[in-house]
Amino acid sequence: MNILVTGGAGYIGSHTCIELLQAGYNVVVIDNLYNSSSQSLKHVEKITGKKITFYELDIRDKKALNKVFEENCFDGVIHFAGLKAVGESVKKPMEYYNVNVYGSFILAELMKKFGCKTLVFSSSATVYGEPNVIPIKEDFPLSPKNPYGRSKLMVETYLRDIFLENESWHIGILRYFNPAGAHESGLIGEDPNGIPNNLLPYISQVAVGKFDKLKIFGDDYKTHDGTGVRDYIHVVDLAKGHLMALEALSKKSQILTLNLGSGRGQSVIDMVKAFEKASSKKIPYEIVNRRLGDIPASYTDTTFAEKILGWKPKYDENKICEDAWRWQQNNPSGYE
Ligand code: NAD
Ligand code: WQD
Repeated sequence: MNILVTGGAGYIGSHTCIELLQAGYNVVVIDNLYNSSSQSLKHVEKITGKKITFYELDIRDKKALNKVFEENCFDGVIHFAGLKAVGESVKKPMEYYNVNVYGSFILAELMKKFGCKTLVFSSSATVYGEPNVIPIKEDFPLSPKNPYGRSKLMVETYLRDIFLENESWHIGILRYFNPAGAHESGLIGEDPNGIPNNLLPYISQVAVGKFDKLKIFGDDYKTHDGTGVRDYIHVVDLAKGHLMALEALSKKSQILTLNLGSGRGQSVIDMVKAFEKASSKKIPYEIVNRRLGDIPASYTDTTFAEKILGWKPKYDENKICEDAWRWQQNNPSGYE
């Protein structure tokens, strides 16, 4: 079985390539390396002992992508390629809609042209906006609060309309919560450009000495310790979820929407403590103002994903922090 992985050199994509290769799939990656390094794919090959076919191209380059489809016969596509920084999306909405939405249009058009109708799409829990209650279920109202989230919702809507027109598609929309951690080999992990936006990479970089301290964005939320609560899901569990989604989709034509998270809410302080335990390092922090647009708490109800995929995350916050720390220690400057 041949699988096209768009954005496969990136954080979640590279971890998913490992699971695909280990399960016996052939993997073709396209990526323009805007936010990644081809080194990640070399490391995936090292971990698995298997080869990846890699095309460096922009997903919006229809001619180049058409050639990839001509040269390969795909049984399915996992579509990770896109831009993902919430704050940046507010400053560069055109770029976000262009890459995330237009890029997905091009991909789906070529899939149709070449008769490949199995697609797993990376959506995000951000499409729920601020939920009225938690845990979050898949049928909750959708109300993204920024251009990034709205671009994801647009693609979801587009995919639903494609399916309505032709029900022979097999489409999986996966809404991830907060992916974190790294492969336990320490060879691949998250490698953000510049100052990390997300909590775990920031804590890791404090632990490795790149920053003096963590700034905790608010301790006056109505949560168990006042800091923001999120659902941190180990990236390897998440990667396995993609494989199981592909397998579920292969059984019948359908459109599936699933939340992928751990089902547990952890505060910022909880994660700091878990990281301190994993790294035996003190993580100094100061409490600063809330970050604009942040919500108090978010975590998923895992019941539906478990029922449909038989998927249950295996790893907890301690394992997330141990693996994130191993990756950070072995690669203080990421893939450079
Ligand atoms: P990432 O930035 O590490 O991976 C995305 C990959 O897409 C990168 O390798 C990047 O170079 C590539 N890419 C970007 N623009 C491209 C273009 N025009 N053409 C070809 N390739 C392009 O991010 P990630 O964390 O691995 O996220 C993967 C997907 O999951 C994204 O769609 C993201 O929106 C979604 N997602 C991520 C998170 C998260 O917190 N990491 C949460 C929810 C959803
Ligand atoms: C987690 C918690 C912060 C950094 C974002 C996107 C979402 C998804 C995942 C793509 C919050 C706090 C953080 C710091 C802090 N991405 N924090 N100091 O905001 O839940 O989600 O990434 O789809 O769309 O919005 O994740 O890691 O930024 O924050 O105190 O330096 O850590 O306030 O409570 P978030 P995060």
